[in-house]
Amino acid sequence: MIRNDIKALSAYHVPDSSGMIKLDAMENPFSMPDDLRKQWAEKLAGVDINRYPDADMYKLRAKIASHEGVEPEQVLLGNGSDEIIQMILIATVPGTCVIPSPTFVMYNLVSQWLKRPVATVPLAEDFTMKEEHFLQVCAREKAVVAFLACPNNPTGNLWRQDKVEMIARGMSGMLVIDEAYGPFSERTHNHLIGPNVMVLKTFSKVGWAGLRMGYLLGDAEVIAQLNKVRMPYNINALTQASATFLLDHFDVFEKQVAELRDERERMAAALADMKGIEIFPSQANFLLVRVENSNAVFESLRQAGILIKNMHGSDRLLDNCLRITVGSHEENDAVLAAMRGIVA
Ligand SMILES: Cc1ncc(COP(=O)(O)O)c(C=O)c1O
Repeated sequence: MIRNDIKALSAYHVPDSSGMIKLDAMENPFSMPDDLRKQWAEKLAGVDINRYPDADMYKLRAKIASHEGVEPEQVLLGNGSDEIIQMILIATVPGTCVIPSPTFVMYNLVSQWLKRPVATVPLAEDFTMKEEHFLQVCAREKAVVAFLACPNNPTGNLWRQDKVEMIARGMSGMLVIDEAYGPFSERTHNHLIGPNVMVLKTFSKVGWAGLRMGYLLGDAEVIAQLNKVRMPYNINALTQASATFLLDHFDVFEKQVAELRDERERMAAALADMKGIEIFPSQANFLLVRVENSNAVFESLRQAGILIKNMHGSDRLLDNCLRITVGSHEENDAVLAAMRGIVA
């Protein structure tokens, strides 16, 4: 009874990381300060989990709206931004979805689940992209929707602002600018929001990956339509209470993000000094590097208790590439020491 194309898919694989330095999933390495953790636990203890959560979440949307400088009606909440990608692909009229290649895998995967055609725009060897090329593919394919991760995952680079603006102006379909790594690039595209431009964000990378909470900012009318394919109660009561509380303490996470940006620069400089490593510019909380034999380096790091992501084989442009999440100072030192040993 299962569709043959679903049978042909592989399940999303999450490797076992127990006991390892976990630098494979762009999580924030810092745990919450003890005093904040205590106050948070007290808030959670007051949540009535015998009741369904608030379905409309107006207050939480209003809080996020004021955090972003938009109206509450312009905010759609998702169980991670992954779920919002799914809502967008469910609600838009059938037709092609255009994405750069390589980019975040879920755009393609969810399109496959929903039997939506996908057209890819291959990046150049240095992972840049010509906006005319992207727009040409959108026009040729009569793109209904396009996703542009800014910065891009897994390459880490951020498209030039004027290029993103040209794509936003030149597209007739819906453009979703995915700012999952926006906090690490310090650039936002909220000013581009309009009837066919939306900005997707997540709290996962700034420190709340376990909560599963993402949000979409868009034109109020479009958000109201997308809201119709949102599962009722998609954000559980504990996540709602956590997000409401943590947004009042967002400065704590902003400081951590700033520290990770500094660590990224330190790591990038140290890796660039090592023989046999090519490092690509990153505006995200991870670094993409090319080594001579990524399978061997990945395995040596694993033996040293460090889990990163081996991108080799996922795209021709990513041959021998490894993606390393920026961790805490000590974790990064462990990576650098291990890498020095490996390349020596
Ligand atoms: C570009 C991009 N968008 C969205 C997501 C999904 O984030 P989440 O579902 O945790 O909000 C990720 C996760 O890695 C990502 O890299």
